[in-house]
Amino acid sequence: MLNKKIRVCLLVALIMIGIPTMAKNTVSIVPKPLSMEEGSGVFNLKSGQTITATAASLRPAAEYLQQVIGAATGYSLKVSNSKSSVIQISLDSSLPKAGAYRLKVTAKSIKIEGKDYQGVIVGIATLRQLLQGRAIPEVKIEDSPALPWRGFMLDSSRHFWSKAEVKRVLDLMALYKLNKFHWHLTDDQGWRIEIKKYPLLTEKGAWRHFNNQDRDCQKFEQKYENSDFHLPEAKMQIQGTDTLYGGFYTQNDIREVVAYATQRGIDIIPEIDMPGHFMAAISNYPDVACSGMVGWGTTFSSPICPGKDSSLEFCKNVYREVMQLFPYQYIHLGADEVEKTNWKKCPDCQRRMKEQGLNTPEQLQAWFVHNMEKFFNENGRRMIGWDEILEGGLSKTATITWWRTWAPNAVPQATAQGNQAILCPNGAFYLDNWEDKNSMSTLYNYNPLLEGLSDAQKQNIIGAQCNLWTESVPTIKRVEYLLFPRLVAFSEMVWLPAEKKNEKNFLNRLPAQLKLLEAEKVNYRVPDLGGFYETNAFIGSKTLNLTCLKPNVEIRYTTDGKNPTRSSALYNGPITIDHSTDYIFRTFRADGTPSEAVKAKFIKMDYSPATPATIQGSGLKATWHEYVGERCREIEAAPVNGEYQVSTVSIPKEVKGNIGLVLTGYLDVPADGIYTFALLSDDGSTMEVDGQLILDNDGGHSPKEITSQMALSKGLHPVKILYFDHNGGTLKMSTYNDKGDKIEWPAEWLKH
Ligand code: ACM
Ligand code: ZN
Repeated sequence: MLNKKIRVCLLVALIMIGIPTMAKNTVSIVPKPLSMEEGSGVFNLKSGQTITATAASLRPAAEYLQQVIGAATGYSLKVSNSKSSVIQISLDSSLPKAGAYRLKVTAKSIKIEGKDYQGVIVGIATLRQLLQGRAIPEVKIEDSPALPWRGFMLDSSRHFWSKAEVKRVLDLMALYKLNKFHWHLTDDQGWRIEIKKYPLLTEKGAWRHFNNQDRDCQKFEQKYENSDFHLPEAKMQIQGTDTLYGGFYTQNDIREVVAYATQRGIDIIPEIDMPGHFMAAISNYPDVACSGMVGWGTTFSSPICPGKDSSLEFCKNVYREVMQLFPYQYIHLGADEVEKTNWKKCPDCQRRMKEQGLNTPEQLQAWFVHNMEKFFNENGRRMIGWDEILEGGLSKTATITWWRTWAPNAVPQATAQGNQAILCPNGAFYLDNWEDKNSMSTLYNYNPLLEGLSDAQKQNIIGAQCNLWTESVPTIKRVEYLLFPRLVAFSEMVWLPAEKKNEKNFLNRLPAQLKLLEAEKVNYRVPDLGGFYETNAFIGSKTLNLTCLKPNVEIRYTTDGKNPTRSSALYNGPITIDHSTDYIFRTFRADGTPSEAVKAKFIKMDYSPATPATIQGSGLKATWHEYVGERCREIEAAPVNGEYQVSTVSIPKEVKGNIGLVLTGYLDVPADGIYTFALLSDDGSTMEVDGQLILDNDGGHSPKEITSQMALSKGLHPVKILYFDHNGGTLKMSTYNDKGDKIEWPAEWLKH
């Protein structure tokens, strides 16, 4: 790098002649590179500069870089074979692992070296993130991914995404070094890929009358005053007096998208979900189902009949065409959520089971899956399936995508057998779950190399992916809102080894990413406001100081229960609150789009007096009721399964299945003070302190935390926590220490 004196002179000269420069320490990259040295100069981009790919295979990457720079700067660079180009991309097989890259930017040149094509592409992503205005700061970066599978799944069935919209998703994936696009192309609600042998699949199966999911979108549009839920007219078709909704990809469209992804270093894993979730096909080719058994079962739609050879042939014919279109190694068979009741009644299925020595419908499902896998293997492909493919026996070579958090043994079991696993547990990794103040942090702090696995098992975890199911996601703006910024956190989680992750450091780099997303016109979700909880207690008066990771965000608020609009009061600094008040806050983007409204109660109170009591021991008493419903207040009426004790607010390890849990005892607080309770539960929970309901997190839901405060006098306060779950849930209570760090509620403050 240049010596200091020359740097200073250069800086002065640059300022004088008006060439763009930048302040130091503005480099902010996500995922954070493993090693980076920063210089002090900059490389200035100019129209006409040339990019050279030193290997012919890198030419598409050079053209991609040309597009990326062009879109960001308006400059048109040239791709050239000249050896003297200022921008050079090349391969270096000495780099440590697949997907690794080295990036060197000096004031004179840019060099990107990749271990492979992927490596070059992720180097380009880093370069794009470094770009400020039309300059790139001097850096030397060496970087490689912790995990090879960094994926995103898009459901194109529940709502159809045009070719251009899918390309948009691929561009954003590439920006964050995600390299596997799992494309859910068919489901009950729509068939989206042209299959020439079975034209009705798209002629009819791609178009539907508005269904309950569409009506939900219309309701949300009204309820949340949010046009992101507006069903797009462009995807409607008038046929006579009917309005049909949908769309599909022709085989040429698919080829175009595949080429686009390939250029961006992204593999596409097509999923034609079977044998269940197949209604869009079965409605038009009913012979594929068990004879006379087309419709909806108790939970899912009627599946394919694995008893009939003709059904198997149908499935294989579909996949024959799919394999022609997608050149990648992996194919996703789906195989989740299969309603198997028809199979018990169907003579063809029963005959198949007898012939094959199968005793249960699960074994029949496994037989179907193995049969399809053999077919994939014969065609040089590897099969992935949702983790249900473990039931009834997994072949040696299948890969699972683990989504069922209520099947926690799926990954330990599959990886112990030597099968590969991709993780997308259906809480934080399901981006269709609406984001709340904890979702990004949960995603960031997830460690995909699960505790308790041997090193050999960990080797079989090839990565993770986020999924977006689109039942209530009708527009690309809504897609972007749900993806960002969570996908940014995910990208770092899956790129960095666990010991290199640091959430605070990540959050410091996030504002620059929001700026980048803004430049890319992404409809991201403004991160949650901080500085308050759902319920806040105070004695006397309190200063409310709102915070947001997005600098200078416009915040409006009301105190009359109405949703803030752009003409509501503007927050422009700390507010003193001296009486109980219910606030509603809402942030607004520069284009006027509002965030969700957030409610916060501020309650003026006195210290709640302590209760004299005789203490028997530490921890809380736990009573497990055999409860099957979804309301905390009903739990105590259900039969009791057992009595336990817990040292923290948690589910006793013996308690499983239908859980209705009642925790009772005392909070033993060490001093008069305002105490904060953050109760996280999946499913519902409520909490009473001193006989007052202070937390209501009731109802069926995925992991959700609610935080409330109460002013308590030193001493004992009766506490009662109700909780239910039916498929392996979570219960945890946290508080904040003096430094503001979140900690588990201390065990020594719990008594019974
Ligand atoms: C799934 O969410 N049904 C895989
Ligand atoms: Zn059958």
